[in-house]
Amino acid sequence: MNKKSVFLGIESSCDETAAAIVARDADGRGEILADVVLSQLEEHAAFGGVVPEIAARAHVEAMDRLIAEALERSGLSLCELDGVAATIGPGLIGGLIVGAMSGKAMAYAANKPFYGVNHLEGHALTARLTNGVKFPFLMLLVSGGHTQIVLVKGVGQYERWGTTIDDALGEAFDKTAKLLGLGYPGGPQVEAAAKTGDPKRIALPRPMKGEARLDFSFSGLKTAVRQAAQNLAPLSEQDVADLCAAFQLAVAETLQDRVGRSLARFKAEGLSAEDRPALVVAGGVAANSAIRAVLTSLCDGQGFAFVAPPFRLCTDNAVMIAWAGLERAAAGFPANGFDMPVRSRWPLDAKAAALIGSGRKGAKA
Ligand code: KG4
Ligand code: ZN
Repeated sequence: MNKKSVFLGIESSCDETAAAIVARDADGRGEILADVVLSQLEEHAAFGGVVPEIAARAHVEAMDRLIAEALERSGLSLCELDGVAATIGPGLIGGLIVGAMSGKAMAYAANKPFYGVNHLEGHALTARLTNGVKFPFLMLLVSGGHTQIVLVKGVGQYERWGTTIDDALGEAFDKTAKLLGLGYPGGPQVEAAAKTGDPKRIALPRPMKGEARLDFSFSGLKTAVRQAAQNLAPLSEQDVADLCAAFQLAVAETLQDRVGRSLARFKAEGLSAEDRPALVVAGGVAANSAIRAVLTSLCDGQGFAFVAPPFRLCTDNAVMIAWAGLERAAAGFPANGFDMPVRSRWPLDAKAAALIGSGRKGAKA
């Protein structure tokens, strides 16, 4: 691609319906022309988590309107676009079908190329749009559906170094909040409660510490919080704050260990010629300031640039999907056929072994 190119992006893999128009120039600089996101948080709040059928129906209701709104805000018509990209996996199958079908229909009607995008690739490449990050870099993805450390070598070239063998980190925050009687989503509530808590009063485990691998496990930590809460019951406000602080400290120290060793491995393998290669964070949990503080000081200590795209683009959105489509097109990947199926499971690194219990029943990414 040797000129400016503009894509429509569509995202509907979990509980956000989103459409965006993004441009990429020949030098790889991006520009967001429209970014529309509709969260279904309220529809799912009463259930304490995402209900797939409710999500799929909400995507159907909102999708056409959101695409029209994105086009209108960009000031462009469908014919002026150069391509359409939609998330086709991983995620909840009903939502994926809605987004993929909408994207294919738009592309077919306007006779434009269609790119089926891996949602995780969208997260992985966002920092190139927002911060111009160069390959290779390390990504820590910590969301409601995933907890992964990924070496991003190039468009379509990913090596998964670590993943969770049970719960995703955001899921662990949400479950911890639920068992302590806090609302959904739990991450922000746990963080707020932890501010007035004593992280040292209650001892919690550091799962998988000391193992050579770079994987995570969070379900034991959540069980330890449950047991500590049962021992203290009935819980005072201070007990809840102390439990949240202890949980957050355990999480922060776990990330410090796994990410710290990943940075060391990146350096030891001589992967980059950059003075300060980047550690990029993505996913809703990246909003947590205790976690950010730990990662920032790790990066400072080990000579990495800590890159956190704006929060709006760390969580689910369609800008990253349009951008991933543009990056794929620019890298010479052919467009996908309209027969390309959606995939509820779709690892970024096809060679990485599936770990027992990893990924998710729900598949929030
Ligand atoms: O990336 P995201 O918005 O959605 C997907 O998972 O796709 O991530 C949502 C997750 C939820 O589990 C939420 O509890 C968590 O991110 N989260 C946080 C914080 N803000 C959101 N976790 C810890 N601390 C926060 N401040
Ligand atoms: Zn996501």
